[in-house]
Amino acid sequence: ITVFRRVGAYFEEYLSQMSRVNKSFSDLSFARSSSDGSFGTDEGLFEQPEQLASSKTVVEKIVRRISLQMRDQQQAWQESPEGRRMLEFRSNLPAYKEKEAILSAISKNQVIIISGETGCGKTTQIPQFILESEIESVHGAACNIICTQPRRISAMSVSERVAFERGEKLGESVGYRVRLEGMKGRDTHLLFCTTGILLRRLLADRNLKGVTHVIVDEIHERGMNEDFLLIILKDLLPHRPKLKLILMSATLDAELFSLYFNGAPIVNIPGLTHPVRTLFLENILEMTGYRLTPCNQVDDYGQERSWKMNKQAPRKRKSQIASAVEDAIRSADFKDYSLQTQESLSCWNPDCFGFNLIEYILCNICENERPGAVLVFMTGWDDISSLKEKLQAHAVLGDSKRVLLLACHGSMASSEQKLIFEEPEYGVRKIVLATNIAETSITINDVVFVLDCGKAKETSYDALNNTPCLLPTWISKASARQRRGRAGRVQPGECYHLYPRCVYDAFAEYQLPEILRTPLQSLCLQIKSLRLGSISDFLSRALQSPEILAVQNAVEYLKIIGALDENENLTILGRYLTMLPMEPKLGKMLILGAIFNCLDPILTVVAGLSVRDPFLTPLDKKDLAEAAKSQFSGAYSDHLALVRAYEGWKDAEVDLGGYDYCWKNFLSFQSMKAIDALRREFIGLLTDIGLVDSNTTSYNTWSYDVNLIRGIICYGLYPGICSVVHNEKSFALKTMEDGQVLLYLNSVNARETQIPYPWLVFNEKIKVNSVFLRDSTAVSDSMVLLFGGNLSKGDADNHLKMLGGYLEFFMEPTVVDMYQSIRRELD
Ligand code: CDP
Ligand code: MG
Repeated sequence: ITVFRRVGAYFEEYLSQMSRVNKSFSDLSFARSSSDGSFGTDEGLFEQPEQLASSKTVVEKIVRRISLQMRDQQQAWQESPEGRRMLEFRSNLPAYKEKEAILSAISKNQVIIISGETGCGKTTQIPQFILESEIESVHGAACNIICTQPRRISAMSVSERVAFERGEKLGESVGYRVRLEGMKGRDTHLLFCTTGILLRRLLADRNLKGVTHVIVDEIHERGMNEDFLLIILKDLLPHRPKLKLILMSATLDAELFSLYFNGAPIVNIPGLTHPVRTLFLENILEMTGYRLTPCNQVDDYGQERSWKMNKQAPRKRKSQIASAVEDAIRSADFKDYSLQTQESLSCWNPDCFGFNLIEYILCNICENERPGAVLVFMTGWDDISSLKEKLQAHAVLGDSKRVLLLACHGSMASSEQKLIFEEPEYGVRKIVLATNIAETSITINDVVFVLDCGKAKETSYDALNNTPCLLPTWISKASARQRRGRAGRVQPGECYHLYPRCVYDAFAEYQLPEILRTPLQSLCLQIKSLRLGSISDFLSRALQSPEILAVQNAVEYLKIIGALDENENLTILGRYLTMLPMEPKLGKMLILGAIFNCLDPILTVVAGLSVRDPFLTPLDKKDLAEAAKSQFSGAYSDHLALVRAYEGWKDAEVDLGGYDYCWKNFLSFQSMKAIDALRREFIGLLTDIGLVDSNTTSYNTWSYDVNLIRGIICYGLYPGICSVVHNEKSFALKTMEDGQVLLYLNSVNARETQIPYPWLVFNEKIKVNSVFLRDSTAVSDSMVLLFGGNLSKGDADNHLKMLGGYLEFFMEPTVVDMYQSIRRELD
C-alpha cells in the first residue's frame, strides 16, 4: 500500500513495529507525498478505499489511535486552569452557541454559508468545531480542513490564535501556509492559508484529493482570488460529493452566495455587539463647542462656504479646537446639506483635513475618555506614515509612557503584529492606525473608539483605456458599518466618522468586486493553466462576470506577450509562465534571464518589483532620500538602480547585516531582506521547472552586460513602453494610448534632463490625475525590436506590424533585414 506521510507521526513508527512482530506487514512500502511537505495528502487513505481494502482496518486503527491521542491531549488541556479559562472564553463567543446548528448543517449539506458579525468567532471557532467533531467521531480525525484567508497576515495571526486556543504549538494540529512561509506538521489537520496558496495547489491537484473541508473566509470582500476559487469549487463539487464547502461572510448579503450555490442554506450567527455611539462630522464639530449649520442660500461654487461657523463659547484649548474646525471647514466644499447623489461625493474630501481634526479627537480621547484602544482607519499607507510622524511629535500623543502608537499593514513583521493584539500596560492608551485591513480580517480585542476617514485605496481598472488605477475611493456603507462595529466589541463604544451624514447616505451599498475592477491577465493565464476551458465561458460562470472588454484586453495582452497563441492556447512560454507564481511580465524576465545566463541582476529586478518599494522617501527628508537614490542612478533605469543598491547592501551585509548601509541610503532594510528571500525562492522555482541547473553556483556567464539586462527588462515590460521626445531643455514622454505621461518623482529618470535613448519601458502606469509611470528603464531601438513583443511565436511581419506604431520612423530596410535574419535563426 502507499501510505502518505500526513497520516501522523506515529504512523511509520507504528507500522514498522507491527512489521517486526507480524510478517504480513513486512512488505509495506512507504511513499512520501509532496516533498516540500506543504500539502501532503491522505489521498490513499480517504479517497480510494477499494485500493486499500486489505489494509483498511489497520489504517483505521492507526488513525483512531492518533486521534485518541489528540483527544486525550485536548482533554488534558481543557482540564488545566488556562485551558478552562480558554474554553470559557470560547463558549461565550456567539459562534459557540450555534455550534450544533452549524455542525448539523455541514453534515446535511455539501455547501453552507455562515454569516455573522466580525468578531463573533467565525474564523477561529468554526474550523475548530469541525476538527473537534472529527476527532470525536468514530473514524478518528479523518479530516483535512483548509481555511483560506484573503491576506497573509490574517492566515498567520489566526492560525497562531487557534493553536493557542487548543493549548498547542503552531504546526501541531493547526498550521498555516502563506507565500514564503509556513508551519505545518505531520499531524496538521487544519491549515490556514492564503487563497493564492490553495489556487496553486489546484494547479497540481485539481480534485483536492484528501481534502475534506474547504472553508473560504471573508467572502464578502469579493477579492479576485476568492471569486475565482468559487467558480472552480462550484465546478468541482459534483465530482467530489464528499467534499464540504463552507463560505463565511461578515455581512448579511449572504443570499447572493446562496443563490450561486443552488440555494445553499445560510446559518446566521446572531451578533453580540454592544451599542456604538455614532458621530458624523457635524456631530464631532458640535462637540468641540462649534456648531456648523448649513447655509440656506448657496452662492456660487467656491465663493462662499456652505457651512457657517457659529462661534459658541469654546470650552478649552481654544486655538487648537479652532484650527481643527477651521481645517475641516476649509475643505468642506459641498453645497447642499442634503445632496444625495454619488457625484456630490467628489467635492467633499476628508484628505484635506491636514490631520488636525484626527489629532484633536485622539488627544481628546486620551485626556478625557475612559480606557480603551483607538482604531483609526486611514486611506493608505502613505497617510498612515505621515499621520504617525505628526502624532509622534505631539506633546500628549507622542509620549510613549502614555500612548502606544502602532501602525498596522499587510506586510509587517510578526513582532510588530503581536503588539497590536496585546493589551498595553495599565494606563497606556493603544492607538492603532490601519487601512481597511482592520475592517474584518483582523480583530483587535480592546478597541472602544474608532475613527473612520471614509476612504480606502482601491485598485480599479478602466477597461476602455486599459489602464489600472489606484485611487482613494469612498468606502461602501457595508464597510462603514464594519468599521463602526469594531468599536463595540467588548463594551459600548464610539465611532467618529470624519465625514457628514449626507456623504454616508450617498455611499454605495457594497464595494464593487475586485474581478470587475482589476486587469485580468494573471487570472486568464491561471484559467488556461488549470485547463478550465475557454476563458470567456469560464468567467461567464462567475458570481458576477467581468466586462467582455476587460476579458478581451487581458487575452490580447497575453497574446502580445506571447503567452497565448492565436487560438487562445497556452504557448510554451505561457506554460512556463503559469509555473511561476507572479505577474507574467516578471516571469518572462526570469525565464529569459535564465536562458541568457545573466540571472543575478534579473533576480534582483524581479524581486524588487514584487516587494514594497525598497527606496524610502520620508516626508521630511525627501531631498536627502532623492539624493541618496541618485547615487545609484546613471544607467537611466530604476531597475538597475535597485540592482546597484542591492549589490551594495550585499557587500555591506557582513557588517551587522548591512543595517547601517540601508539607513544611510534610505533603503528599507525589510525590503532588502525580502528581496534576498525572494531571490532564493525564484532560484528554487526556476530549478523546479528545469531552467536552472541545480548544481550551478553562478547564474551569470558574463559579468554584467548592462545592455543585455536592459533587453531582458524590455522583454518583460513590453508593451509597457513610451517614447522619449526631447525638446531643448528636457524631455516629454508619450504612450500610444494615453498621449503625454509623467514619471513618478522618485524615479531616477525624473531627475534627468536628457535621456540618451528613444524609449522607456515601464513597470506600471497608474492613473491618478494624470497617467504616471512607475519604475522605468531606458532602452534602445534595437532592444525594442529584438526583445519587444513576442519572440517565441508569430512571424516577423506580424511582429513588425505590432511594433509599427512605435517604430514607424525606424523601418529602414537594413534593420528589417537584420531583424528577419535574426528571426530565422531564432525560429
Ligand atoms: O472571524 P470572526 O470575525 O467572526 O471572529 P474571530 O476572528 O474568530 O475572532 C473571535 C474572537 O476571538 C474575537 O472576538 C477575539 O476576541 C478573539 N481573538 C483573539 O483574541 N485574538 C486573535 N488573534 C483572534 C481572535
Ligand atoms: Mg474572521
